[in-house]
Amino acid sequence: MEGDSRGPKGLRLLLLGAPGSGKGTQASALSSRLCVPAISTGEMLREAVAEGSELGERISGLLASGELVDDATMRQVVQRRLDKPDTERGFMLDGYPRTIDQAHALDEILSSSGEGLDAAIQIEVPEEELVRRALARRREDDREDIVRRRLAVYRDKTRPVAEFYRDRGLLVEVDGDQPIVRVTEAILSALGVAA
Ligand code: AP5
Repeated sequence: MEGDSRGPKGLRLLLLGAPGSGKGTQASALSSRLCVPAISTGEMLREAVAEGSELGERISGLLASGELVDDATMRQVVQRRLDKPDTERGFMLDGYPRTIDQAHALDEILSSSGEGLDAAIQIEVPEEELVRRALARRREDDREDIVRRRLAVYRDKTRPVAEFYRDRGLLVEVDGDQPIVRVTEAILSALGVAA
């Protein structure tokens, strides 16, 4: 992508990558740099569980076991969030889409506003480093057996999403096994934005 592609509508970006690859870390760093909100579906779901909402009660077991929440529920969650006015000048979605069905759902959500995506950024990190990072963090779903289950779900259901965007010429692959600031720089450089 050449030059800073932010037009009047801003950048519409996806952050893809395995659990622990640094999606959330990079979303926070890039959100202020690119002036777009970082939207983490994992964070929204954990908030729903913490609030004890109807959604939270329905999905808490899935989150705890490392399984995915169903596509129809995720479509509602994402649609509601993207309907908020702060996304009018772009957004960075962290953790969605995670299945090919979710990628099609996102197409439909965006087509209603006549907008497309600018890039899908895939952060690559070797599996043993992913496990090391997760175990060092100790979130509730960071127990080794659950981390390995999340990685298996990723390989099976989410990895094909990267190919979906590669076929559309939107995939940007970045080495995530380097210091955090270097990963941020690599993403900005791939987007054609000065670091
Ligand atoms: P979610 O919260 O999205 O979890 P995840 O994909 O497993 O990702 P993580 O938060 O573990 O990792 P990350 O890539 O964001 O890395 P981070 O920056 O935190 O989803 C949780 C659950 O919600 C799912 O399992 C599922 O149940 C459900 N869910 C969410 N979205 C869904 C969807 N679309 N459909 C269905 N279900 C859905 O970094 C990890 C650690 O590494 C941190 O400690 C960080 O400090 C460190 N770190 C980051 N970068 C570096 C670096 N370059 N070098 C060294 N350390 C680093």
